[in-house]
Amino acid sequence: MHGSVAHSDRRESAIVTGAAGALGRATALRLGHDGFAVGILDLPGDELSETASQLASAGIAHHVLEVDLRDTDAIAAALRDADEAIGPLAALVNNAAIYPSRAFLDIPIDEYDDVVAVNQRAYFAAAQTAARLMAPHKRGAIVNVGSITWHGGWSNLASYISTKGAAVALTRALSRELGTHGIRVNAVAPGAFPTKAESIQGDQQEYSRFVIEHQALKRRGNPAEFAAVVSFLVGDDSSFVTGQTINIDGGWVME
Ligand SMILES: NC(=O)c1ccc[n+]([C@@H]2O[C@H](COP(=O)([O-])OP(=O)(O)OC[C@H]3O[C@@H](n4cnc5c(N)ncnc54)[C@H](O)[C@@H]3O)[C@@H](O)[C@H]2O)c1
Repeated sequence: MHGSVAHSDRRESAIVTGAAGALGRATALRLGHDGFAVGILDLPGDELSETASQLASAGIAHHVLEVDLRDTDAIAAALRDADEAIGPLAALVNNAAIYPSRAFLDIPIDEYDDVVAVNQRAYFAAAQTAARLMAPHKRGAIVNVGSITWHGGWSNLASYISTKGAAVALTRALSRELGTHGIRVNAVAPGAFPTKAESIQGDQQEYSRFVIEHQALKRRGNPAEFAAVVSFLVGDDSSFVTGQTINIDGGWVME
């Protein structure tokens, strides 16, 4: 289902994938407050409806895109639909991901394929459609969401971490090619935010202690602090920044 609610006369739109999740929702709200009309893309369900209703309550123009990111034709159709419905696409945030946790020796290849389809192939496909829509306007910004796990490795997440490295590689490759079209491409690498993703970590309190021990800042991050960096990277304040990856991790990884 695609449906839109228009409350603003902003001429430009931003699309956030995985907008039913904590970091995607915070990003959709932040970009809405920045003045974008926001396309929220995710699988259908209560969490996506909740994001839509929070945007509606805030008076933010938005468009709901119920899409399975494993379907690349559906991605292209949804982005074009949003571009027509709520304004020319000026920003894409490739944020959706899946993160099955399993020992490398036990990962079935079908599971690996699924992770690649959502976390890597869909990022490529969405960026391609977005860039095709942005190029005629000579303007646009794409942000790919990686993860600090890519820097140092992590057990039981080999498929996921491979795709998060790919997000950084894609960012660098596209920034070179799309710069000539006035399109900037950057990445963010979150550390450990206390979201649903942490359910794979077992004892939550122990994990929280582990996180804080490794961070320079001795507190947990808030999804709004993730969204603020994405806002910077899609906004004009970062107009001379492209091809970069910013770690948003309270000072865990420093490279
Ligand atoms: N939370 C963290 O601490 C953390 C750390 C490092 C990286 N990240 C990255 O941040 C991003 C957001 O993470 P989050 O914590 O909000 O996770 P989340 O699981 O809450 O959100 C991910 C969203 O992606 C959606 N999604 C999954 N498969 C899909 C599909 N086939 N089609 C459409 N949508 C699909 C899910 O429905 C979900 O809403 C991810 O890229 C994740 O890898 C998060």
